[in-house]
Amino acid sequence: MAGPPASLSGQDVGSFAYLTIKDRIPQILTKVIDTLHRHKSEFFEKHGEEGMEAEKKAISLLSKLRNELQTDKPIVPFVEKFADTDIWNQYLEYQQSLLNESNGKPSWFQSPWLFVECYMYRRIHEAIIQSPPIDDFDVFKESKDQNFFESQESVIALCTHLQQLTRTIDDLEENQLKNEFFKLLQISLWGNKCDLSISGGESSSQKTDVLNSLEDLKPFILVNDLEQLWSLLSKYKKAGGTTPLVRVDIVLDNSGFELVTDLVLADFFLSSKLATEIHFHGKTIPWFVSDTTIRDFNWLIEQVKSCNHIWMSKCGADWGKYLKMGRWIYHDHIFWTLPHEYCAMPQVAPDLYAELQKAHLILFKGDLNYRKLTGDRKWEFTVPFHQALNGFHPAPLCSIRTLKAEIQVGLQPGQGEQLTAAEPSWLTGGKYGVFQFDGPL
Ligand code: F6P
Ligand code: MG
Repeated sequence: MAGPPASLSGQDVGSFAYLTIKDRIPQILTKVIDTLHRHKSEFFEKHGEEGMEAEKKAISLLSKLRNELQTDKPIVPFVEKFADTDIWNQYLEYQQSLLNESNGKPSWFQSPWLFVECYMYRRIHEAIIQSPPIDDFDVFKESKDQNFFESQESVIALCTHLQQLTRTIDDLEENQLKNEFFKLLQISLWGNKCDLSISGGESSSQKTDVLNSLEDLKPFILVNDLEQLWSLLSKYKKAGGTTPLVRVDIVLDNSGFELVTDLVLADFFLSSKLATEIHFHGKTIPWFVSDTTIRDFNWLIEQVKSCNHIWMSKCGADWGKYLKMGRWIYHDHIFWTLPHEYCAMPQVAPDLYAELQKAHLILFKGDLNYRKLTGDRKWEFTVPFHQALNGFHPAPLCSIRTLKAEIQVGLQPGQGEQLTAAEPSWLTGGKYGVFQFDGPL
């Protein structure tokens, strides 16, 4: 049997991968440099001259990085010792070994896109940790927080909706409960439009009323396996005491509005008794501009709690309680910020794989998770999702993703071609979405 297809890469001139490496990534780097500049006086106030020196050092490392990228220099190993340095450098050697026959070297435009894009964010992190005393500075924090504040109205609407719903939840008939479940899942899907890396780090908050737009957005869901999620979870609920613990894991994506939609969904899982325990998985380092770290997670819950809107603060208080009671559990793991496709998880991070195997359902949020689930490869549109997962099946899983990269599997014959003819940017504009499920029911 033929192996999986080739990786998406910047070699394909004009492709989205190529344009990302050529335009979007340098733009993000420039923004990071600018952010450091703007915080100069803050670094001085906190750390004096040493802070100023550190800022200079970080900026010079980042400018060097931008130059390497723009001139398609070879990818160099990491020098600063950190928890994942050895695994990263081994991966670099592996990429090198793939090119040994041609005598080439891994480089920005020649190597797989997934690898070089992850490498770029890890190099940003290296520049920061090499610059003490500002080695704890999150260069994306400001944009993530801004995204949350700009989405304030939508957050209030969503929290109010959730509070009204939970007050009557025990009286809902099965079909009504299912409808409410599907609504919150769709909100979490469209929340994924708000990531900040696709917009080159520019603001991308939620300003429209998603709750009332769900019907209009339905035609843009290309694969809709929600019924399968419902069958799986309602089966456990009906079984009652025979499965006393139902665990749902959410592999988080972006902080800001998307994280609020995920927390609202997680709250609903518990209040509807469709699950008894939610495990969140976040990033250990700032990642793809807007991805959630533990700091973002705690910060956002604190913001929601201390807000002076009655329903919003009630949500924040409930969420704090879930965390205290251990019904919500936050995890992070270096694997999520490595360049590996997820089928490599059993070898690279067996502990994480074993943890995920304890789940009854795993939700993977966002585009980057989809790329890693499917290996970021040039699959035919009609290849089954199960096949593209290439052996990654820790538990039943569902990808909840808006399309922001030239990869999509599991479509009906002709569906991809029709979309391409009607709307050339359907794969990358974030306008379309999928709920793609894999696993036995
Ligand atoms: O830089 C582009 C990209 O890698 C796209 O694939 C994707 O749009 C984005 O970054 C990350 O998206 P998400 O936050 O949905 O994972
Ligand atoms: Mg993201």
